Amino acid sequence: MTPPHRSRTRLTFHGPLSEARADRLVRRLAGNAPATVLDIGCGWGELMLRVLAAAPQATGTGIDLDGEDLARGRRAAEARGLADRVRFLEESATGTAHGPAALVLCVGASQALSGELPAALAELRRLVSDHGRVLLGEGFWQRTPTPAELSRMWPDAAATDHPDLAGLVDLAVDAGFRPEWTETASLDEWEEFESAYLADTEVWLAGHPGHPLVEETRQRADRHRAAWHTYRGVLGLAYLTLVPVAR
Ligand SMILES: C[S@@+](CC[C@H](N)C(=O)[O-])C[C@H]1O[C@@H](n2cnc3c(N)ncnc32)[C@H](O)[C@@H]1O
Repeated sequence: MTPPHRSRTRLTFHGPLSEARADRLVRRLAGNAPATVLDIGCGWGELMLRVLAAAPQATGTGIDLDGEDLARGRRAAEARGLADRVRFLEESATGTAHGPAALVLCVGASQALSGELPAALAELRRLVSDHGRVLLGEGFWQRTPTPAELSRMWPDAAATDHPDLAGLVDLAVDAGFRPEWTETASLDEWEEFESAYLADTEVWLAGHPGHPLVEETRQRADRHRAAWHTYRGVLGLAYLTLVPVAR
């Protein structure tokens, strides 16, 4: 079995997103008949590929830094007969020259545009054409975490890392959008995602006692599980379908 910490075979999407919500998102986004789709921090681009399948007139561009994830996206495009309508580019999305596009996807990846959410939203407004749509998948606090909780999340986690849901939508409005649809990942979607994220690693650890990679792999998995059990019910993920206000 290949390096356990890179195995993502159990993940359909790289985030808490159920098949049912993905279907609804794809129907809504493809219903706007986009001619072009730009996926910022696309990973393997599963959602973009589904939109392209549902919008036969559309072409897509996915941008990510992760060559392995991009290769998975290219294989999936090939297998679904979409390879001639999509390209997966290994480059940074920061200050990208691609776009504007009729549909911009940015799911769990605003950091690819900017470390500051208002600046990332301004970038999304620049990258979407008038009458287009942005799907923003973005973190928010379901409640303010305590200092003890923050110390168990990610390195240097701070209460200022995310707004609450109302604050997140207000930032999108300030950046020149109206929220067409606001929805948030359920606890079931989080549990499915976080379990799938670690499942291959946990099975590998159980089956490889004494392997030279066990210690560092176990530490990484235990750290991630401790963080997840701390942000469970505290960190939310919002899916905002945003309409740019015409200029
Ligand atoms: C949580 S994943 C989300 C992937 C995908 N959007 C999805 O929902 O399945 C975040 C992605 O952002 C990418 N990323 C981070 N910084 C980036 C940058 N500067 N340019 C392009 N991609 C970046 C990472 O490589 C990673 O694939």
